[in-house]
Amino acid sequence: MAEHVLVIGGTGMLKDACLALAATGRVVSVVGRDPDRLEAMMMDASAAGNMLSPLQVDYTSTDEFTRAIRTAIERFGPIDTVLAWVRSWASETLPALAREVSAAGRPWRLFHVRGSASGELPAGGSLPDAVPAGGLCAYREIRLGFVREPGGSRWLTDEEICSGVLGAVESDASFVVGVLEPWEERPSA
Ligand SMILES: NC(=O)c1ccc[n+]([C@@H]2O[C@H](COP(=O)([O-])OP(=O)(O)OC[C@H]3O[C@@H](n4cnc5c(N)ncnc54)[C@H](OP(=O)(O)O)[C@@H]3O)[C@@H](O)[C@H]2O)c1
Repeated sequence: MAEHVLVIGGTGMLKDACLALAATGRVVSVVGRDPDRLEAMMMDASAAGNMLSPLQVDYTSTDEFTRAIRTAIERFGPIDTVLAWVRSWASETLPALAREVSAAGRPWRLFHVRGSASGELPAGGSLPDAVPAGGLCAYREIRLGFVREPGGSRWLTDEEICSGVLGAVESDASFVVGVLEPWEERPSA
């Protein structure tokens, strides 16, 4: 059975990463709210002969989000890999995700994409205490940094973010895209 990847928040800056994962033969389920963005992605994948399944749901509506994950599992089997780009204040989203994915009783991987100002990168990456995964989750953190250039610095492009995310997934490791230091040299806007 093909690897089942769930991408939360996959219709924005991670869109091309989702399409690239689908192009490797993985089944990719994508969470977002806007039906038009989801439909457009599905059509792009389908035109390339790949499998991408939209899950239209607000991940802050925990019951609906939980049901959407169950639906994805019923359709495509247990989730092997999760790519999560979730607002830090959405505190129920990762715990709900972990409960549902771990219920299959199989090991799975969580690639947690976090912005520049998310604190120190944990050594080796560790699952936040509030996320119950029954010891089944291998946690990987992908931190978005910035790019230093002659005369200044700039934030990452979506292309750079997708490339870093794909590299982390393929190498199965935590990763910093760009740099986080020196923090005082980050772009001003
Ligand atoms: N260097 C850095 O540290 C850093 C950090 C963050 C962002 N950025 C940059 O900032 C840009 C914008 O980032 P962004 O996060 O605003 O946009 P984004 O990645 O373009 O969009 C957020 C994604 O999450 C989904 N989403 C948001 N809230 C949701 C909810 N409640 N339920 C379900 N899905 C939800 C959105 O889909 P729907 O809208 O359809 O729900 C979309 O797929 C990026 O392009 C990136 O370049 C840089």
